[in-house]
Amino acid sequence: MHMIVKIALIVGARPNFMKAAPIMKRLRELKEHFSPLLIHTGQHYDDVMSKVFFDDLNMPKPDVYLGIGSGSHAEQTGRIMLELEKTFLKEKPDIVIVLGDINSTMAGALAAAKLCIPVAHVEAGLRSFDRSMPEEINRMVTDSISNYLFTTCEEANQNLLHEGHPEERIFFVGNVMIDSLYSVKKISGSSKIVEQLGLTDTDTVKPYGVLTLHRPSNVDNKKALTDIFEALAVVAKSLPIIFPVHPRTRKQIQTFGLEHYCNMVSNHDHKTSTTRAEFPGRLTCINPLGIVDFFKLTSGARLVMTDSGGITEETTVLKVPCLTMRDNTERSITVTEGTNVLVGNDPQRIIDGARKQLSRDFSAIQSPRHWDGKASERIVDVLLKIKNEL
Ligand code: UD1
Repeated sequence: MHMIVKIALIVGARPNFMKAAPIMKRLRELKEHFSPLLIHTGQHYDDVMSKVFFDDLNMPKPDVYLGIGSGSHAEQTGRIMLELEKTFLKEKPDIVIVLGDINSTMAGALAAAKLCIPVAHVEAGLRSFDRSMPEEINRMVTDSISNYLFTTCEEANQNLLHEGHPEERIFFVGNVMIDSLYSVKKISGSSKIVEQLGLTDTDTVKPYGVLTLHRPSNVDNKKALTDIFEALAVVAKSLPIIFPVHPRTRKQIQTFGLEHYCNMVSNHDHKTSTTRAEFPGRLTCINPLGIVDFFKLTSGARLVMTDSGGITEETTVLKVPCLTMRDNTERSITVTEGTNVLVGNDPQRIIDGARKQLSRDFSAIQSPRHWDGKASERIVDVLLKIKNEL
């Protein structure tokens, strides 16, 4: 009889759910080898930030829910570590898998490493070289104590080698976020979000853009957020911009009194939906979307404007032009091989960048290597190979 490996998979926030779903699915198919335990820290807890993703991605309910919620970085990270330590002591996993670069990722890696439980990091090796970004600290700490480093691109492999990680610990498996993108693509036809937002004219879809903003460097600073909104108001004069607003950002729009840039629309009620074209120069603000609606919306967009990292990967695969309102990125492959350009938060650069991106055609580009929907299979193949080490 062979050993069944108990794997704790830690998730906390939106982008984690997308990365965990395909890995979880694959692990569950191999019951004779693996017993997966899904642990949700509760870093994101609102239904629109969490539950809708589990539903859309057809993910099982978490086996353990820690209900940590929001807080300062130290508070949130500390509370997650305290609760995870208890869970690990009780459940005794053979290996812990952490994903991406959020506080739950670093907290999970630290709690496991201190109990001498091997740690695997999915999306290892990405570096923005900007330590003012909380995620950069999370990435560096997590990688430095992980035993198995799963990477999405060659640059990540090189970063890890430069930091002294042995080559045999680095596994270039590709991009697991893109696995989710491919599986959601199959069902996104059912989404009515484009019609709900009044973006169709008889049978044709009108040109529109999509905006997401949540980075503290953009949304927690009044000048930065005002500058971005000023620039986007210019872009919105000729291109309706749909803006699913993150709770952090919604709070800051109110705190800074920037509501006049926004046109609030309910995306949950057909009757109150209204076309963006009636409000030129304003952003059409809606509630955060689930992955099926978001995928439908971005795949049909003329331009995506964002400060997210994951979205720049998705637009690269979707061949949709993307404008990133940051000065750096840990995912430079989206610029060198994809559809992304960096414009920071300077208004003129945003306006010029949007104009330029709208005139570009990316239809001929190829997706980066291993961004093919099979990353989770490669990850699980590695786990099968290393079973005996655990
Ligand atoms: C976190 C991640 C970020 C990731 C993002 C995806 C860290 C350091 N940051 O940022 O890398 O790109 O998730 O969205 O881990 N809030 C709610 N409801 C929720 C969740 C959050 O209202 O369900 C509000 C709270 O006021 C909270 C704030 O949003 O204080 C920020 O949430 P937090 O999880 O701390 O960071 P994000 O900005 O979401």
